[in-house]
Amino acid sequence: MTETVISLKNVSKCFKRYKHPVDRLKEMIFPGKKLADEFWALRDINIQIPKGQTLGIVGRNGSGKSTLLQIIVGTLTPTTGEVDVKGRISALLELGSGFNPEFTGRQNVFFNAQLLGFNQKETENKFDQIAAFADIGDFIDQPVKTYSSGMFVRLAFAVATSVDPDILVVDEALSVGDEAFQRKCFARLQIIQERGGTILFVSHAASSVTQLCKSAILMDHGELLLTHTPKLVISKYQKMIYAEPDKAEELKAEIRELNKLVKQEAENHHQSSLETKNGNSPAKNGEIKKEPVISRAIEYYEFYDPGMIPADTVRYPSRGAEIINPCITTLKGKVINHLIGRQEYIYTYSVIFFKSTSKVRFGMLIKTISGFELAGSSLNAASQSLQYVEAGTTVSVNFRFKCLLNPGVYFLNAGVVGMVDDDLTYLDRCVDVAMFRVQPCAESHSNGIVDLVIEPCLTVVNTDFINQEQESEVV
Ligand SMILES: Nc1ncnc2c1ncn2[C@@H]1O[C@H](COP(=O)(O)OP(=O)(O)OP(=O)(O)O)[C@@H](O)[C@H]1O
Ligand SMILES: [Mg+2]
Repeated sequence: MTETVISLKNVSKCFKRYKHPVDRLKEMIFPGKKLADEFWALRDINIQIPKGQTLGIVGRNGSGKSTLLQIIVGTLTPTTGEVDVKGRISALLELGSGFNPEFTGRQNVFFNAQLLGFNQKETENKFDQIAAFADIGDFIDQPVKTYSSGMFVRLAFAVATSVDPDILVVDEALSVGDEAFQRKCFARLQIIQERGGTILFVSHAASSVTQLCKSAILMDHGELLLTHTPKLVISKYQKMIYAEPDKAEELKAEIRELNKLVKQEAENHHQSSLETKNGNSPAKNGEIKKEPVISRAIEYYEFYDPGMIPADTVRYPSRGAEIINPCITTLKGKVINHLIGRQEYIYTYSVIFFKSTSKVRFGMLIKTISGFELAGSSLNAASQSLQYVEAGTTVSVNFRFKCLLNPGVYFLNAGVVGMVDDDLTYLDRCVDVAMFRVQPCAESHSNGIVDLVIEPCLTVVNTDFINQEQESEVV
């Protein structure tokens, strides 16, 4: 079995909150007086993290993520419960922690490396490598208080990852750097993973968590709501942040229930693999076995999130027609932007014609976040064209499609062309006019962007037969 390197048993953390700072003093002088409100930032956290695991931690602001990390790192002590951490732990906590603002970058590097157990000579040997990674030029000899937040993170990340940590803790830091630096950081994290290091990674960036982590937890109001695959945890998290207030509690109860089922399933699985030698092997690196649970316990539903609006819609100038209300609906006509893989939907819009036009054609295109043109319906198809449209007409355009996309966010485009002054040209066109999220379909285990509804077929080849063949060849 994989060794557990971080173990938290029934860990809770209570902060005292005083209305007036002087109340803290009064309470010390008069111990009988209770002037503080108690605030439980963590409640009864139980978690075992195996060596080599990369665990993503997600949750809303104030849900307790940083408190949890600080308890693991040891900069906060839990109010109740037990914490056991094995190995050298290096942390990139929230901005400002760990570095002395009055010292230069160089002095801070030495100071931090020594805290992590490196002697002067060892740190000197590492220094050039750390400075090169941080790439902040002469600022390395300036006091840290003069740094931009980007420079600060560059140096802090360089130190934290250059000291060969057994456990690396990264608290929402990478979002500060530019993309090129982020790429460099992810490459560094991958090296630590390959060396068998354990990483705890707090991020609000869903794609970073799913790409980097093997497993994830969802925190909410100090409670550990769910431990599962990053994909599922992120989808539950997103559902929670967009949930209508009256649905939020119901949703939380549903997630708790799912977590219970997952735990039960893991225990049963563990039990059966202990009982039967030939049973399935336990999940590697703490990765959670998901198949039986997912298909039974999770139900995704279609809904509309009004906050999901593209940031960069481009509308071309209209030339006699205007596309209105582009959206996706269910087959029954309900407008949604959260779809479920493998289900059928309708992409619909209307076009109002201000001028009479001939050879009118209607099109659609779906793009990925990076702008890749994923799928569309050709503007040349006869079924998508009208020979003549009179001014004042409104045409309703429907594209029925099967959503063979894997979970992710996609963007919709629309265009209508027709004859203007003897030229076939765009009458109206909109780019990234709407966005939608595809949620997993229970049956799919597909990855990549497109779900090809792949049906694997496995055949165990009779080994006796092979042996016989080989023997006959020898003869
Ligand atoms: N020293 C403290 N004294 C009092 N309350 C605190 C203290 N530190 C944290 N808290 C409270 O504990 C809760 C959890 O805070 P924490 O910083 O762990 O949240 P978080 O999940 O990291 O949030 P974010 O996403 O904003 O970083 C918050 O409500 C916060 O106000
Ligand atoms: Mg935090």
